[in-house]
Amino acid sequence: MTIIAPSVLSLDYANVNVQMEQVEQSKAKWIHFDVMDGHFVPNLSFGPDVLKGLRKLSTKIFDVHIMVSNPIYFAKVFSELNIDYLTFHYEVCTHQEILEIINFLKSKQVKVGLSIKPSTKVEMILPYLSMIDLVLVMSVEPGFGGQAFDVSALDKIKYLRKVIDKHSYSCLIEVDGGINAETGKQCVDCGVDVLVAGSYIFKGNIVERVNSLL
Ligand code: DX5
Ligand code: ZN
Repeated sequence: MTIIAPSVLSLDYANVNVQMEQVEQSKAKWIHFDVMDGHFVPNLSFGPDVLKGLRKLSTKIFDVHIMVSNPIYFAKVFSELNIDYLTFHYEVCTHQEILEIINFLKSKQVKVGLSIKPSTKVEMILPYLSMIDLVLVMSVEPGFGGQAFDVSALDKIKYLRKVIDKHSYSCLIEVDGGINAETGKQCVDCGVDVLVAGSYIFKGNIVERVNSLL
């Protein structure tokens, strides 16, 4: 069954308790939390204190996606906050730094994700697939919610599905950006495990929108 991860980037922050309760009542198993630093991506979002607050409103799996230029620092900060998955970007790291973050998060019992932007070749992360818990394929340029789905993600998902199944890796495939009922189904048909959706879920009836992605 597909895992749905509503992205709280699109939450109505004038109505946090109500919307978080609706997410809680929905069939979404995860919550996706986007951290943006105004440097790796042009936009700013939220940091550890907001996460601490939302954590108190939810029993879901917390899936933190850090779009930052200094992932080593923020991996340390967020690993202390009772989160489940921490995903960082391939593009800002050397090979040694990737290994360092993976080992650090494992030592903290936090699951590790590695993400690639639409312009990054999927082959670049093959060396890490056996070591990580999740690969995040970005289907929009990271930085903003509400953008259109980039179909180049579909071939990446198909390719990863083949490699992961061939080697029986336990790594999940997640897709993020422009997901709605139609693009979500295309990704599921290509073998994705986790659908992140922000504006599609929060701009409608949350419970129904989640159901439409299952
Ligand atoms: C984009 C973020 C996404 C974003 C998706 O940089 O990583 O998680 O919230 O938003 P939608 O679903 O609106 O494209
Ligand atoms: Zn994200």
